[in-house]
Amino acid sequence: KHVYFFETVSSTQTIAKQFIPLKAKEGTLIIAEEQTAGRGRMARKWYSQKGGLWFSVIVKPNIPIKIAPQLTLLTAVAVVRAIKDVLPLQPKIKWPNDILINGKKVCGILTELQSANGSIEAIIIGVGMNVNQGKNNFPKDIRPIATSIFAESGNTIDLFSLLKAFCVHFEQLYEQYLQHGFKEIQTLWEQNCDTIGKEVVATTIRETIDGKVIGISEEGALLIKKENGKVSEIFSADLTN
Ligand code: BTN
Repeated sequence: KHVYFFETVSSTQTIAKQFIPLKAKEGTLIIAEEQTAGRGRMARKWYSQKGGLWFSVIVKPNIPIKIAPQLTLLTAVAVVRAIKDVLPLQPKIKWPNDILINGKKVCGILTELQSANGSIEAIIIGVGMNVNQGKNNFPKDIRPIATSIFAESGNTIDLFSLLKAFCVHFEQLYEQYLQHGFKEIQTLWEQNCDTIGKEVVATTIRETIDGKVIGISEEGALLIKKENGKVSEIFSADLTN
């Protein structure tokens, strides 16, 4: 319906933001074949040459800003389902938003808020999926941690089938979320997550916390039980084992 396809853009996130003042409809999708300035979390560069699926979805839910991270988790569930639809793979979610296959990252999600007067005007959910790139297409420094669906399965995937599968699942989960809230999504997320129960080191901008992951909060924060028994709620961090 509201799909905009580009061959080359700086970043679909940037383009999506330009659509918002133009009263972009809920569910507007901006997709590009390649990005010259793809962005990841924490101001990182996101490598996005041809062969991957790079897109941003604009949604406009009527929810408080505090719970907006829930949509990142919802999106992660939709990505896992979409990959499973096209191939018999077992992708796992690594909090908050990485999708891993065999322990390596195939997909990242970047959620950005556009707010006005303390309420949400739009949420832009950026999804980057490594699909048909070969192992050696990745820059050397990320080769140990990055992978693609092709690299893990030997199958070349039709990008549009994968995108369509994502859209079907996203729409279904988003409707469910608007009607019934986050609880059901949280359960689905936890079922597909491989972070829960693990000992991790979480590095935030302020501190480093280590302990055992016991779950996520309703806002989508990671709950880590420290050695002293106290539980820390973490909204943004990098996790290592
Ligand atoms: C991360 O894991 O750091 C998030 C990566 C998000 C990448 C996607 S690709 C489509 C959209 N446009 C961008 O510039 N970034 C997101």
